[in-house]
Amino acid sequence: MANIIGGVATTHVPAIGKAIADSKQNDPYWKPFFDGFDYVHRWLAREKPDVAVVFYNDHGLNFFLDKLPTFAIGAATEYRNEDEGWGIPVSRSAAGDPALSWHLINALVADEFDITMCQDMLIDHAVTIPLELMWPGQRAPVRIIPISINTVQHPLPSLTRCLKLGQSVGRALQSYPQDLRVLIIGTGGLSHQLDGERAGFLNKEFDQLCLDNLANNTQKLIHYSIHDLVEQAGAQGVEFLNWMAMRGALTGKVSELHRNYHIPISNTAAATLVLQNKGEAARQAA
Ligand code: DHB
Ligand code: FE
Repeated sequence: MANIIGGVATTHVPAIGKAIADSKQNDPYWKPFFDGFDYVHRWLAREKPDVAVVFYNDHGLNFFLDKLPTFAIGAATEYRNEDEGWGIPVSRSAAGDPALSWHLINALVADEFDITMCQDMLIDHAVTIPLELMWPGQRAPVRIIPISINTVQHPLPSLTRCLKLGQSVGRALQSYPQDLRVLIIGTGGLSHQLDGERAGFLNKEFDQLCLDNLANNTQKLIHYSIHDLVEQAGAQGVEFLNWMAMRGALTGKVSELHRNYHIPISNTAAATLVLQNKGEAARQAA
């Protein structure tokens, strides 16, 4: 049975890739953000996941507005990045795990999530930046299962639907026969709006509410409609849907291990959260 060790949620702002390329981690602008990853590095070194399920949103590299699935999952052996036009270097590719991908696909469809299956899938900054932040200077030492959620073209799936998607993934992982250590990642957010009259909009109070309640009080968050979420978090703050899916996949007793919140990175309220998941077996052993 796969063991879901926990979740990491992080901002995926492309400018982070430029800061890494220019070795700016200790610059006063960047230091408070990058320092938030020291804990993540120690935790990952201790926990040693084999696989990472990554809930993220594609921004036009693999899917464009002409064809945009609500939910899509990768089933490839390898995921490549390409030049997205942010002035950042093209990232390393990441390894896939097709056997686990097909297990998840079968389970999700049986569970009435009619997900788009992608045997060829480019990963954009919403996957590559978090991997570089978590495992700096190396190819991520995990196989990944990318799951993309449409946060770009309305209508978007609701917070409740994304929570349920995550829960379905969590159940599917628990029924996987191999002994794997699985990390769940959710990327994007928190509040930000890149365009329109409210460009630059941030909402610290709402971000705090999200951070305070994601681990153990999702009921306090899921009643926000997509319209409410755009109003509270900004047009791109809806990327919080990825965080909610991540939380859904944590099936055991969840506790917060670490958080970092720093305003702003580029146009975004940058946040990092580490959640521990204690499964039934681990709880009984304790
Ligand atoms: C920014 C944030 C994002 O989530 C993104 O996908 C692109 C840019 C930003 O703040 O610059
Ligand atoms: Fe984004």
